[in-house]
Amino acid sequence: MKIQEITLYVNGIQYEFSIGNKFGQIPPGETLSQTLRNRLGLTGSKEACGEGACGCCTVIMEGDAITSCMTLTVDCDGKHILTIEGLADPETGELSPLQQAFIDRYAFQCGFCTPGIIMTSKALLDKNPHSTEEEIKEALSGNFCRCISQYHVVQAVSDVAGKAGA
Ligand code: FES
Ligand code: FES
Repeated sequence: MKIQEITLYVNGIQYEFSIGNKFGQIPPGETLSQTLRNRLGLTGSKEACGEGACGCCTVIMEGDAITSCMTLTVDCDGKHILTIEGLADPETGELSPLQQAFIDRYAFQCGFCTPGIIMTSKALLDKNPHSTEEEIKEALSGNFCRCISQYHVVQAVSDVAGKAGA
C-alpha cells in the first residue's frame, strides 16, 4: 500500500508527514489544530470549543483565516500556514504592528482568545488594509472573547487599518 506523504509549510518552514495509524504518523482524522499544537509545539493558537464556534484556534492558510479545529491535516497538503508564532520578526523578535497595537490598546485580559483574534484581523487587513470599523466587527464576528475585550480589540485593529503592514 502506498504511504501518503504530505507537506506543510508552517511559518515558512517545510514539514513532511506521512498519513496512517502507525506510531509517528498523522491519523487521517487528526485536525490541523492538533498537528500544530501537539506535533510542532505551536501552542499559540488555542483549542476551546473544538467545533468551529469560538475562533480561538484560528490560523491563516493560503491567505484565509480558518478554524484549525475544523480542518483535517490530511487536507492541507502543500498549503502555506501562518500561526501567531510566525508574526514577529524571526531575527529581531520585533512584534508585528497588530501585536503591538493589541498591547498599546490593552486589547486583552486573559489572552486566551487573542491569538485567534489577531490572526483573523491579519487575514482581514492583508486583504483590505483600509478596513472600516464595521468591516472589522463583521470579520471578528466568529471570534469570541469571554473577557469582553471587544471594544479595545476593535480600537487596536482600527489603529493598524490604513497603516503599512499588519
Ligand atoms: S476551538 Fe476551533 S473554533 Fe473553537
Ligand atoms: S481576553 Fe480572555 S477570552 Fe478574550
